[in-house]
Amino acid sequence: MNDKTGLHIKEDEKHILLDHAYDGIQELNNPLPSWWKLTFYLGIIFGIIYIILYLVMGAPSLRDEFKKEWTVIESIQEKFKKEHGAFDEVKFLAILKDDGVKKGQIVFETNCVPCHKEKGIGDIGPNLTDEYWINSKGTPATNFPVVFNGVPDKGMPTWSQTLSNDEIYQAVAYVQTLHNTHQPGGKAPQGNKVEDEVKQ
Ligand code: HEC
Repeated sequence: MNDKTGLHIKEDEKHILLDHAYDGIQELNNPLPSWWKLTFYLGIIFGIIYIILYLVMGAPSLRDEFKKEWTVIESIQEKFKKEHGAFDEVKFLAILKDDGVKKGQIVFETNCVPCHKEKGIGDIGPNLTDEYWINSKGTPATNFPVVFNGVPDKGMPTWSQTLSNDEIYQAVAYVQTLHNTHQPGGKAPQGNKVEDEVKQ
């Protein structure tokens, strides 16, 4: 019997008893469990296959796979732009008839006011109540693509990513009612003066 642990070394274990004792503790040389060895060997096999696939045969890295998926996303976005990004006069008139301006005011107050302020007087975004326009000619047909695509470099978000097409038409319809209203406290004009405005 072991003095410290009180454990017995069984008769059939004697042959695996190691020839040393530390602080009176003796050690048996038990084999590792087979499940443990199996995972260890599987790990080695996996490692070898991994190295061959990725370092030798040049399987696609995460970055390559991302690029591939990104191209698919871009082509879907392009298709979406082609189908919905062009201003459709007939649709715009239908939206106008369906309370478009009123609905557009809600869209505007929810999404656009942080940058264009109440009634579109301008802050981070330009004043929408004057006759000066940076990207458009102030008409629904020319404002629509600006709202749809945004001007990401200048801080105008791409609204086709967050709003439905109807909501974009509605926002554009509301913006049209602000045009040339010269609200008090408006931001100084930016862009080019548009002389021949089309009032919808
Ligand atoms: C995060 C700020 C921000 C928000 C929110 C925002 N805009 Fe803009 N918007 C801008 C900026 C900045 C510009 C000017 C871009 C430039 O300098 O080319 C702009 C430009 C525009 C223009 C063209 C003005 C011009 O003179 O060319 C229109 C129209 C417009 N926004 C409508 C909207 C509508 C509608 C919404 C809500 C659906 C909206 N914006 C929300 C920042 C914003």
